[in-house]
Amino acid sequence: SEKASRIWYDGHSLAAKLYHHVLTSTDEGKAAREYLRKRGFTKEAIDTFQIGYAPNSWDFLTSFLQKRNFPMKEMVACGLVSVREFDQKPFDRFRDRIMFPIWNKQGEIIAFGGRVLKEGNPKYLNSPESTVFNKGETLYFFHKARQTIRKKNEAVLFEGYVDVISAWRAGIENGVAALGTALTETQTKLLRRVTDQVILCYDPDNAGQNATYKNARLLEKAGIRVRVAQLPDGYDPDEFIQKQGAERFNQDIIGRSLTLMGFKSLFFRRGKNLQDEGQRMDYIHQMLKEISSLTRAVERDHYLRQISEEFSISLDALKQEQRQIYRERV
Ligand code: UTP
Ligand code: MN
Ligand code: MN
Ligand code: MN
Ligand code: MN
Repeated sequence: SEKASRIWYDGHSLAAKLYHHVLTSTDEGKAAREYLRKRGFTKEAIDTFQIGYAPNSWDFLTSFLQKRNFPMKEMVACGLVSVREFDQKPFDRFRDRIMFPIWNKQGEIIAFGGRVLKEGNPKYLNSPESTVFNKGETLYFFHKARQTIRKKNEAVLFEGYVDVISAWRAGIENGVAALGTALTETQTKLLRRVTDQVILCYDPDNAGQNATYKNARLLEKAGIRVRVAQLPDGYDPDEFIQKQGAERFNQDIIGRSLTLMGFKSLFFRRGKNLQDEGQRMDYIHQMLKEISSLTRAVERDHYLRQISEEFSISLDALKQEQRQIYRERV
């Protein structure tokens, strides 16, 4: 109900303020401050993203909420508080974690992602899904980034919270992230309402590249023009910005992002040895499949010529095969 939602929003808003206070102004927050400082988080970023720290306590938030007469049943339902199984005693869900508030598109805090400071499982503990927090409907930082996305007519889609924050520090204020990797149709629609151009900037590992391929498809189907920023192996966007700097990220990574077909060409080459005839034929077949889904003849011709030149195959043969693939498709 609307009244319950209000209590949930208020609980999250209060928790965010407390966690932020603990991080910025208490002794308990010292290790977390040090952790964030080492990772390059500025004071401005910590404030803008309302980052906090949940102390290593079982009842820090719980007792605070109780004193303020927040109904425990609701606080459990929205995932701020957990309950001990054998006697239903409430306790803090988030302990000893860096807290990243997650907002809905109206700018209400509806969840948290809580990161361990050291190693630990899970790396990020997220709030459970609820009637106010649906992962697949949420894009991290969308409530703030949307103005810039509109103005630039372009969004940059990242994998992680920290990538969005580092990019923001590098001057990229139109960055958002899906929570996890798989983009949903709802998130795509959310983006489509404010722009028709998206740059995908995922991790260069297999998981990130596979997600790029899938998400690109979904975005394209919604009428969004996709480009893909490629990072060198071993760097996610945040790591690249830390080690190589904001300027290089803007110029070499975002500035040189590939067209979707350029990305696909690299993607299908991954793990293949093109000196091997069979693998080369697989690659060419995958590319022809992609080419036959292009609606513009000029574009099809352009990419067919590229393949023809690279592999010394006659354009006629490629065209024939591409038409064959097209017929089989329908
Ligand atoms: P990554 O594993 O790439 O983490 O997950 P990261 O963003 O680089 O985090 P840092 O730099 O180590 O702090 C990308 C995103 O996947 C989700 C989070 O949204 C994260 O930002 N994720 C990852 C989880 O929800 N839980 C996890 O345990 C790990
Ligand atoms: Mn502050
Ligand atoms: Mn990753
Ligand atoms: Mn990452
Ligand atoms: Mn990272």
